[in-house]
Amino acid sequence: MWGGRFAEGPSAIMREINASIPFDKRLWRQDIAGSRAHAAMLAAQGIVDADAVSAIDGGLAEIAALYEAEGPPEDLALEDIHMTVESKLSALIGPDAGRLHTARSRNDQVATDFRLWVRDAIDAVLAGLEAFQRALLVRAEEHAATIMPGFTHLQVAQPVTLGHHLMAWYEMAGRDRSRFADARVRMNRSPLGSAALAGTGFPVDRHATAQALGFDGPTDNSLDSVSDRDFALDYLMSATQCALHLSRMAEEFVIWASQPFGFVSLPDAYSTGSSIMPQKRNPDAAELVRGHSGRIAGCMVALTMTMKGLPLAYSKDMQDDKPPVFEAHDLLALSIAAMTGMVETTRFVPERMRAAAEAGFSTATDLADWLVREGGIPFREAHHITGHAVKLAEREGVALAALPLDALRQIDPRIDERVYSVLTVDASVASRTSHGGTAPDQVRARIAAAKAALGVAA
Ligand code: ARG
Repeated sequence: MWGGRFAEGPSAIMREINASIPFDKRLWRQDIAGSRAHAAMLAAQGIVDADAVSAIDGGLAEIAALYEAEGPPEDLALEDIHMTVESKLSALIGPDAGRLHTARSRNDQVATDFRLWVRDAIDAVLAGLEAFQRALLVRAEEHAATIMPGFTHLQVAQPVTLGHHLMAWYEMAGRDRSRFADARVRMNRSPLGSAALAGTGFPVDRHATAQALGFDGPTDNSLDSVSDRDFALDYLMSATQCALHLSRMAEEFVIWASQPFGFVSLPDAYSTGSSIMPQKRNPDAAELVRGHSGRIAGCMVALTMTMKGLPLAYSKDMQDDKPPVFEAHDLLALSIAAMTGMVETTRFVPERMRAAAEAGFSTATDLADWLVREGGIPFREAHHITGHAVKLAEREGVALAALPLDALRQIDPRIDERVYSVLTVDASVASRTSHGGTAPDQVRARIAAAKAALGVAA
């Protein structure tokens, strides 16, 4: 490729450290699409004659069909996907192949290819997250009124509904979608035509190539265009945040599936047995989603560190941008699919959830709130009175609702029989009607709004 200036070829070590084909061959579709758009523009602008461009385009189409069938070859001597395609093109059509690289450099070429790849990756993640949200809506609707304990500090706090809990995950996934969608808007500009770093003297039409490749327009500074990897970092940062959410959800599955909890029974399809303990059913898929989040965050840190000290414009360090993005994307896509499958197929165990909600004095706040509302007692004092009631119930080994009225009145004479109507977990949940609260009616309203937003039939 640079034989004109170099007398000797690279050493074997140089060849190995320099080559990116082992991983950037994944860009072949984008590389060919970018080249075809560039070639068409070269003809339209009269930079390369139409016959040569027609041969180039036919050759590129043939290469695409070939790679579709058997994948691109991995020859380290050809260094990267760009040289691999170009050398195949020249084998197919001869010297006209050399005209394709007019008014272009591998620097704007790779920046274009990689943007196109990341854009596809974002679209795949957006679709996966939407499917995940749809699965959550189905299960949340099914369990809009299923009582479970809500936790703070992983201590039973107040009763909530399972539907409400699943809809919390829905909100998390919604923010992830919006982050990826934002990243997509920001990255959708074409660097093609920025050439090596300074632009080109050929009369290229950057608007035309941008449009042909589905970009909203060309980027505005050639130095920035060939050295900007923000789009890859935006992807990785969005992926990290998304993986972090999935990891927290996966952790809840792990906890819920443990015997002391028993809130869920994971389906065979998403668990494994133990080679030594026959009774085991392990939540491996959930654990791996939790584990993968660490690797995805690692990919984000890897590219951050690669980029942090690079002067303008292109440096070869930037070739290392691809492996972390590819790795993170594969892990994330699989994690989203696994969580979707688990949400779809897990058997929830409402009896266990209700029993746990009832066991933890989870309606203590309801008692305190009742004292405030009905007795006009300041909340701090009501909290204190309720603390005595909880202590008594704990000593007697009964739920708050099972304490006799006499005993309650001994703690505070302002308590009367009406208090029992707020001490059950169902009454507690039904009373939480504030916007976004856990009352089944609120949960159903939020599910209805979410269905409308996703275009799911009511
Ligand atoms: N394989 C290279 C990469 O991924 C392509 C760009 C090479 N540019 C250069 N000036 N050596 O970054």
